[in-house]
Amino acid sequence: VRAHLGAALGASYLLLGCASAAFAHAQLTTTVQFDREVVHILDNHCVMCHADGGLAFPLLTYEQTYAARWQIRQDALNRHMAPWAAVPGYGELANDNGLTQREIDFLSSWAESYGPRNNGQVYTRIALGSAAPPVVQAHFDFSRWVLGTPDLRLPVADRAVVSGAATAVQRVSVDPKLSSDRWLRGLEYHPGDRRGVHAVSFFVQETGQWLGSWTPWHPYMSLPEGVAYRLAAGSHISAEIDSGGASGPVGERGSLGLYFASPQTTPRSVSDIMLHVNVAAGGAGGSRKLVAATTLEQDTNILALQPQILPGVQSIEVAARRPDGTAQILLFAKDIPLAWPTPYLFARPVALAKGVRLSVIEHYGGDAAVPAAGIPMTVSTCAGPALATQQAHASTVTAAAQRFKLTGTIKSVDTQSGRVLVQHGDIPGFMGAMTMFYGVDKPEELQKVTAGDRIQSDVVTGAAGPYLENIQVIGKAR
Ligand code: HEC
Repeated sequence: VRAHLGAALGASYLLLGCASAAFAHAQLTTTVQFDREVVHILDNHCVMCHADGGLAFPLLTYEQTYAARWQIRQDALNRHMAPWAAVPGYGELANDNGLTQREIDFLSSWAESYGPRNNGQVYTRIALGSAAPPVVQAHFDFSRWVLGTPDLRLPVADRAVVSGAATAVQRVSVDPKLSSDRWLRGLEYHPGDRRGVHAVSFFVQETGQWLGSWTPWHPYMSLPEGVAYRLAAGSHISAEIDSGGASGPVGERGSLGLYFASPQTTPRSVSDIMLHVNVAAGGAGGSRKLVAATTLEQDTNILALQPQILPGVQSIEVAARRPDGTAQILLFAKDIPLAWPTPYLFARPVALAKGVRLSVIEHYGGDAAVPAAGIPMTVSTCAGPALATQQAHASTVTAAAQRFKLTGTIKSVDTQSGRVLVQHGDIPGFMGAMTMFYGVDKPEELQKVTAGDRIQSDVVTGAAGPYLENIQVIGKAR
C-alpha cells in the first residue's frame, strides 16, 4: 500500500513538474487544506484518542488542529504520532495505524504553509439565503460496533482487581455463562471511560489462550471466514486492562461484545504457539539480543502475533525460514512505545509449510530486566492447509470505509497490476485535484476504459488504500 501511494505521489509530482517546473513547488505546499486532507487524516489516525473525553487533548476542529500544527508536524515526521511501531513493507497488518509517507508529507506541508482551512468554498457554497455554512471537523463514532450488533454483550468492570506486580495491568474475570461449547469468531470492546485505558487483552481464563485485544485505533478481533476459537462450556474470559503506565486501577467499566459462528458450522480452530525469547550469547553495544525459534511440525496459517513488551524494548523481528534457505520477514517493529501495547494482526493469514523455522529476535536495552523464563510472544495460528487468501474479514470492515465522487481523465491503464492513473479534480472531503494511481474493485472494469477517457467513479477508502468502484465513462477518448 505504502509503495503504491509513494509511487502515486511520485507520479503526481512528476506530472506537475512537467506542467510548470517553476510553479510546481509553490502549488504543492499550498494545496493541502484542513477541510480536505487534514480532516481525513485526523479521522483515520488521530481522533480515536484526540477527542473530548479521550486519551489526549482534542484534535477535532480547525482551531484545535491549527494551534497544534507545529507539534503535529514534528510528531508526524519523527513517527511519534500516531503511535505505531511496525515498519512498513513487511507483513500487511489489519490494525496498522501508522501514517503513510504521503500523509506525513500532507501534514508537514500543511503546517509549513500556515495551515490553510479551505479555498474559501465554505463561504461561496452557501445555498441562497441559508444559514451559516457547514463547518468541517474531524469526528469519531465511539458508540458504533464495527463488527455489528454482538451476539452477547458482557460488562467488564475492574473492581475485581487481581493486580500482579508493580504493573499498570488489572486482570478481570468475565463469565459468559456458556452452557454448551461455542465457536467464537470475533470480539469487540467498548471501554466505559476512554481517558485511562490504553489496551485490553482477552484470554480464555482456563487455558490462557489469547482471544484478541482492544486498542484505541482497532477495537476488535475478527477471524478469517471459517476459523474460530473454541470456547468450552463453563469457560471464563479474562480481561487484562492496561492503563499505559498509570498506577492503580482506572475504574474501568466497559462492554465486551462476542460474536459466535453458527452452531451448525464446524470451523477450523485457532491454536497458539508460545515462544519465549531469551538472552542469546553476545549482544553488542549496550543492547541485548533475545531469541526464540521453533520448527513448524505441520502446515500452519499465521493469523496474528501478540508480543509482550517490557521496559527497555527496542525492536522485534519475526521471520520464517524455509528449508531451502529463503526467508520471509513477517514483522519488523522498532522504537516500540511501551505505553501502547498492541498485537499485530495480519490482513491475510500467512500460510507456512511444515518444516519452516519460525524465529523471533528482540532487542532490549543493556540494563533491561529479562525474566529467567524469557519474554513471551503468542503466535496465533490455524493449523492445516492454507486458508483462502481473501481479505480477512477484519480488514474489509476496518474503520468505516468512506465513499467519495471523482470526475477525471484516465492517463494510463495498467491491466497487469489492476491500476489506473487518473487526473482528477477536487474530491471534497478527501483530497485536492491531483493525478494518482488507484486500484479498482473489479479488474474487468479496466477493459472498458482507455487513456484519454473522461470518467466518473466512486472512490472508496479501504484498509489497502483508496480504490475505484462503479467507473462510468462520460466521454470517450478521441
Ligand atoms: C493511541 C492514541 C493516540 C493516537 C492514535 C494519536 N495520539 Fe497523539 N497523543 C496521544 C497521547 C496520550 C498524547 C499525550 C502524551 C504523549 O505525548 O504521548 C499525545 C500527544 C500528542 C501531541 C502533543 C505533543 C507531544 O508530542 O506530546 C500531538 C501534537 C499529537 N499527539 C498529535 C497526534 C496526531 C496528529 C495523531 C494522528 C496522526 C495522533 N496524535 C494520534 C495519544 C494518541
